[in-house]
Parts: sequence; structure tokens; C-alpha cells
Amino acid sequence: MKLKEKVAIVTGAAGGIGRAIADAFSHEGAQVILADLRSEPYAPLIARQVYEQFDVTQALAWNSLTSCDMCERIDILVNNAAVTCHQALDEVVLDDWERVIGINQTGPMLGMRAVIPKMRLQGGGSIINVTSSWAHVAAPGVAAYHASKGALRMMTRNAAITYAKDRIRVNAIVPGIVRTPLTDTQPEVTASIVALTPFGLAEPEEIAAGAVFLASDDARVITGSDLVMDGGYTVA
Ligand SMILES: NC(=O)c1ccc[n+]([C@@H]2O[C@H](COP(=O)([O-])OP(=O)(O)OC[C@H]3O[C@@H](n4cnc5c(N)ncnc54)[C@H](O)[C@@H]3O)[C@@H](O)[C@H]2O)c1
Repeated sequence: MKLKEKVAIVTGAAGGIGRAIADAFSHEGAQVILADLRSEPYAPLIARQVYEQFDVTQALAWNSLTSCDMCERIDILVNNAAVTCHQALDEVVLDDWERVIGINQTGPMLGMRAVIPKMRLQGGGSIINVTSSWAHVAAPGVAAYHASKGALRMMTRNAAITYAKDRIRVNAIVPGIVRTPLTDTQPEVTASIVALTPFGLAEPEEIAAGAVFLASDDARVITGSDLVMDGGYTVA
């Protein structure tokens, strides 16, 4: 049990990668709050889990989430919630751009801002920001998603160097193409990325294994890093 007695918040955890991370954390002994915009999770909760309907873009919601009974301490935050939008720069609809930036970039900022004071007081913590291979290499279009994930990559490094003195580790997980409700809804895009990925489509549980590592004391000296879990997509 690598995360025994730890308390974790995982955003965007109704399904997909977030849920797999939440389940892996619970199996390792953590108490996990699954926070997602959906009214309920795709599958029933398991032991040591609670579910909160929650919007990562709402600062006040972060205040109440992090002061709930279970959050007397917060050891782990996973900023996983995100959305995508298939618009190139010259096609951008401003409302869509702001929605993507709000959820993918401002949401993690609000999350980090909410948990850092508590982590500092308790002597440390682990924050994991889920970015994307598209924070490292470009694909055509999808401008707001690239912008938000690129920003989150540097926000991770900024937070890592700022809060190292407080023993707060901040790392990024960099998924490539993973089977989730998101990729299920865009089969043509998914197939085109799988074709460029030597190891093919990953399963959410494979990404969750990386999150357990980064959250655990096994990663005690790791901060500001990108754990690239993309099946070789960015190697070429
Ligand atoms: N699936 C992939 O191939 C892939 C690849 C690279 C990166 N990622 C990243 O992995 C993470 C998880 O992706 P996924 O494929 O599991 O996505 P998904 O769409 O299956 O899950 C995302 C979850 O976020 C929730 N959400 C959306 N807006 C929210 C908000 N405002 N507040 C709270 N929750 C909100 C959704 O309800 C959903 O349950 C994302 O950060 C995504 O960018 C995924």
C-alpha cells in the first residue's frame, strides 16, 4: 500500500484517465475525492472514494472542496479534468477558446492555489498535472488545447521550483493516445494518432500506474519532471 493514509483529490474523475487514477490510488490505500462536472460517475465507487459534482473553473468551489471534512489534510492533487476543441487559430470561436483555457489551464491554477497552503503547513505534498504529448509536439489545428497544455507544462515547472522549499513536488504526466470516453467520441482523430504511436492505444490503467509512482514516496526526489507515457509518439 504505497499511499496508505494519504488524502487525494482527482479532478475529471467520472471516467477515463481520472477514474483509473482514482481507483489506483484507492487500491494503494488513499482516501480519494473524485471531483467532476458530471452529476455521477460512469461506474460505481469503490472503497475509500467519495464523489463530488464540481467545476474546476469555480474558485469558490475549490474553497469549499478543500475545506470539506475529508480534507483536513491533502497529500495529493491530480489536475486531470480537461476538454478539447477542434478549431485552428483562424477558426477560433472566442467562447470555445475561453472554455478550453478556463478548464485546462485556469482550473489547474485554481487547484494548485487551493491546496498549496495546506500542503505547506503539513510539510509537503504531491501535485500531478495531466498535460499531453501536444504540450511537447504540435499537430495541426486544436489551437486552444495546445495552448492550454503547453501553459500547464510550464506552470508545473514554475510551481515545482517555487514550492520545492516547502517539500511540495509538482510533476506532469504526459499521456499520448489513451482509450477513454474522450477518444471514443472522436474515432477518426484517435485512429490517426494511433497510427503514429509505436505502442498503439494505451489503457487508462497504464497511465494511472505513473500517477501512483509520482504520488508515492518512491518519487521523493522527483519534481518539475514530465513523465512521458505516450507509447513513443514523441520519440521520432
Ligand atoms: N485520452 C487521451 O488520449 C489523452 C491524451 C493526452 C492527454 N489526455 C489528458 O488526460 C486527461 C484525461 O483525459 P480523458 O481522455 O480521460 O478525458 P475524458 O473526457 O474522458 O474525461 C475528462 C473528464 O473531465 C470532466 N470535466 C470536464 N470539464 C470539467 C470541469 N469544468 N470541471 C470538472 N470536471 C470537468 C469531464 O466531465 C470528464 O469526466 C485530460 O487532461 C486530457 O487532456 C488524454
